[in-house]
Amino acid sequence: MVEFEHVINTRRSIRQYQDRDVSDDDIMKILKAGMQAPGSRLGAEPWEFIVVRDKKTLDELAEIKPRVKTAPVAIVLVANIERAFYKAHWQQDMSAACENMLLEAVNLGLGGLWNGVAPTEETMDEVAKLFDLDNVNLVPFSVVTIGYPADGWENKFMDKFDEARIHYERY
Ligand SMILES: Cc1cc2nc3c(=O)[nH]c(=O)nc-3n(C[C@H](O)[C@H](O)[C@H](O)COP(=O)(O)O)c2cc1C
Repeated sequence: MVEFEHVINTRRSIRQYQDRDVSDDDIMKILKAGMQAPGSRLGAEPWEFIVVRDKKTLDELAEIKPRVKTAPVAIVLVANIERAFYKAHWQQDMSAACENMLLEAVNLGLGGLWNGVAPTEETMDEVAKLFDLDNVNLVPFSVVTIGYPADGWENKFMDKFDEARIHYERY
């Protein structure tokens, strides 16, 4: 476990991974982190997760989201809209879970990437088809790839702070 600020500051989008497996234990920790996220209504969070390790499925997914290519594991975040209380907030709920997962990956010495799916209809349809999400209430949101970063793709600090964006009391 590393210091919280270090995790926040060094998380980077990792788009290439080593040919090395990620343990089930670590994947479970990442899933648990996702489900600890804030949601627009406690107990009515829409998130569900499909853990994908099968190489053939990963290759098929990479045809839709190319950065999946070298990942040993991908987690498809699916919103179960039927369960959501504030249905219009489903993308915010899913985003919160997604970011928690990426941060936990860094905490575990891994790297991750938010591969966007929603709101691009075409990509959503392709992912839904691949995973047989044939219920209108099951909507793919993103794909989180996880793995040990390849050489040159390590998590590292990048200064994104911009004081000019901060306003006090009024814009
Ligand atoms: C909603 C969303 C969708 C994203 N989709 C993709 C994607 O499809 N492919 C990709 O390579 N990166 C994707 N990213 C990652 C961003 O490109 C990345 O966060 C940004 O370049 C900043 O880099 P950093 O994550 O290293 O700070 C996405 C990020 C967000 C928040």
